[in-house]
Amino acid sequence: MNTFGQRLKISTFGESHGKAIGCIIDGLPAGLFIDETRITQELDRRKGGKNLFSTQRKEADSFEILSGVFNSYTTGTPLAILIYNTDSKSKDYEEIRNLFRPSHADFTYFHKYGFRDYRGGGRSSARETAARVCAGSVAKMLLEHFGIFTQSGIYAIGEIEASEIDFDFAKNSEIFSLDKNKESAQKKLILDTKKAHDSIGGVALIKAFGTIPIGLGEGLYHKLDSQIGSLMMGLNGVKAVEIGAGVLAAKNTGSKNNDSMDSQGFLSNHHGGVLGGMSSGEEIILKVHFKPTPSIFITQNTQDIYKNQISFNLKGRHDPCIAIRGSVVCEHLLALILADLLLLNTSAKLSHLEKIYFSSH
Ligand SMILES: Cc1cc2nc3c(=O)[nH]c(=O)nc-3n(C[C@H](O)[C@H](O)[C@H](O)COP(=O)(O)O)c2cc1C
Repeated sequence: MNTFGQRLKISTFGESHGKAIGCIIDGLPAGLFIDETRITQELDRRKGGKNLFSTQRKEADSFEILSGVFNSYTTGTPLAILIYNTDSKSKDYEEIRNLFRPSHADFTYFHKYGFRDYRGGGRSSARETAARVCAGSVAKMLLEHFGIFTQSGIYAIGEIEASEIDFDFAKNSEIFSLDKNKESAQKKLILDTKKAHDSIGGVALIKAFGTIPIGLGEGLYHKLDSQIGSLMMGLNGVKAVEIGAGVLAAKNTGSKNNDSMDSQGFLSNHHGGVLGGMSSGEEIILKVHFKPTPSIFITQNTQDIYKNQISFNLKGRHDPCIAIRGSVVCEHLLALILADLLLLNTSAKLSHLEKIYFSSH
């Protein structure tokens, strides 16, 4: 299944080394201004090939809007966006066409379907996440009309964790580090690991803030936290998701973990903005844990499709730490979840968008 969402339905398509990837966004209200420069900026944040800390595959990520927009405003019909693949090197994958890269999706895709597009990982490649960012950037534009914003950064690389959280610093950091005092150690760890032909795991911190209404999330099987879990865990390489205090809550007492209230509201936010499966109006805070990139350049043992044990060395261009570009994808996934729940919410004020459209025409 390649579609997500109840009210705002997002379908993505395409493979890593195919002609193009893209998304179809169905369920957008008419009258939303689509800022194409903004889509480019968001895609640029996810892009590889910018520095030593990401894959050297350098995709232009230029996109084309095929439908759903007239005079820069959504028409209420499906919005389709195409992103062309321009920098795939399928030759790099010839030698591994019959073997399974350890910890990648090759093994399961081959056994489920009987054959697979081995070029760059085909559909299982994170190349597809550019389409998620494209859709997410449109969701961000919608949310911003309601005063809701999302942002992200890198909390940890390996065991080097942030002590301070500064989203403004993260914006300009090559690795989106949230802590200016930890950034250089985090960078060094990535480069040292890369020099050793290995890869490293990491943790992204994602936040939604602004005028988050109370009550986003539908009981009981479309809760905000279940949607967060489903979409974040559905992202390539994600192994755990924490909301608010997360796993630390399991080590705490109720008296310390509970968020007391006064007449103005909550006095702390251990609940990470989600209570009873709905937004509480507080900031929504997540930690998303990424495994190290499976494609590494050390000799590894694996199996081929004929069940022979094989020792092999990989070629190709890979991220030394997927959490970095993954953090941007998570931020856009959170925007998609919130936009879907906002539109599902009976109290969402769509008339606000109509006013914006008619006042500009
Ligand atoms: C933004 C991003 C970039 C990634 N880059 C790579 C990469 O360069 N090489 C690689 O082997 N895996 C990469 N991955 C991870 C694989 O896509 C993923 O591990 C694989 O599909 C297997 O899925 P699983 O780890 O969820 O089981 C990346 C993931 C993300 C989110």
